[in-house]
Amino acid sequence: MSEPLVLGIETSCDETGVGIVRGHTLLADAVASSVDEHARFGGVVPEVASRAHLEAMVPTIERACETAGIELYDVDAIAVTSGPGLAGALMVGVAAAKALALGLGKPIYGVNHLAAHVAVDQLEHGPLPEPCLAMLVSGGHSSLLRVEDVTTGVDPMGATIDDAAGEAFDKVARLLGLPFPGGPHIDRAAREGDSVYVDFPRGLTSRKDLERHRFDFSFSGLKTAVARWVEARERSGEPVPVNDVAASFQEAVCDVLTRKAIDAAVSEGIDDLLIGGGVAANSRLRAMAVERAEAKGIRVRVPRPGLCTDNGAMVAALGAEMVARGRTPSELDLPADSSMPVTTVLA
Ligand code: KG4
Ligand code: ZN
Repeated sequence: MSEPLVLGIETSCDETGVGIVRGHTLLADAVASSVDEHARFGGVVPEVASRAHLEAMVPTIERACETAGIELYDVDAIAVTSGPGLAGALMVGVAAAKALALGLGKPIYGVNHLAAHVAVDQLEHGPLPEPCLAMLVSGGHSSLLRVEDVTTGVDPMGATIDDAAGEAFDKVARLLGLPFPGGPHIDRAAREGDSVYVDFPRGLTSRKDLERHRFDFSFSGLKTAVARWVEARERSGEPVPVNDVAASFQEAVCDVLTRKAIDAAVSEGIDDLLIGGGVAANSRLRAMAVERAEAKGIRVRVPRPGLCTDNGAMVAALGAEMVARGRTPSELDLPADSSMPVTTVLA
């Protein structure tokens, strides 16, 4: 077979993503987001997300096929996010993928969302170095993974023990009166702010914490520290310097993320660090990671922002890799598994 043509469907959170790839070449990346419908709640409402996926699914598939200039029956396989994610949201994507696979008589690959965040980088920077160290930071997850072969297994080295990094950005943005999702707004505000204005805590970095949680993260203490600081300012009747607080908060998050990611890479003797997930779009995180990694002789790969946030191309990219490496497809009764472990790459 020439390079496999794969259609990938992503519905684990609030983005209905349909991507089409041929091998490592991206042909279409159609995304319909329901983020505006969740904004007034300050977070994603699962029922609203599921309904939006249902409405967006067929038009998004049609848009992707049109952009790629293909007919549905041209594809060699269908890939879909099997988990982890919101149960009802995942079910919409999995049901759509099964219908396509059955109707077209094509194999189906139910893949892990986190592994897909890793695989997507191949569309931009070519084959993944093996092994590589992946840091995935988004609204739902913050993990350090050792990736030997993204189609067979991913080794978790550490993860957040409370809030995800993106969740911390969203909650702190809310405290500062910035819109949801907060990450991009904090990123922008921080550019005008002083990152050493407040010395916010760096979670799980004390010597004692490092003994048990060397590669784990904690962001809930940081979020509380920002809340206390803002409350104290408001009580004293002084204005809150939003840009400075945003910059100081962002500095604390990026400091811990990059420190632990590089420590993990060094400890494993790995020379390539890949950063993915929505928070990988953060400008300070990108700059700090490159600067600190280069000092240790580690190369950094970060997909462009549009491929870092949830999309269907990442699912298609992992599916295409599964086909190229001859992995056995999933059964047609594959589940939507909201708590799919990161060690399971293919359902
Ligand atoms: O990967 P993603 O689209 O969805 C999840 O799987 O969660 O990530 C969304 C998260 C949100 O929390 C959002 O605030 C954050 O990524 N984010 C950012 C930036 N852009 C998006 N966080 C920090 N800086 C950014 N520039
Ligand atoms: Zn994600």
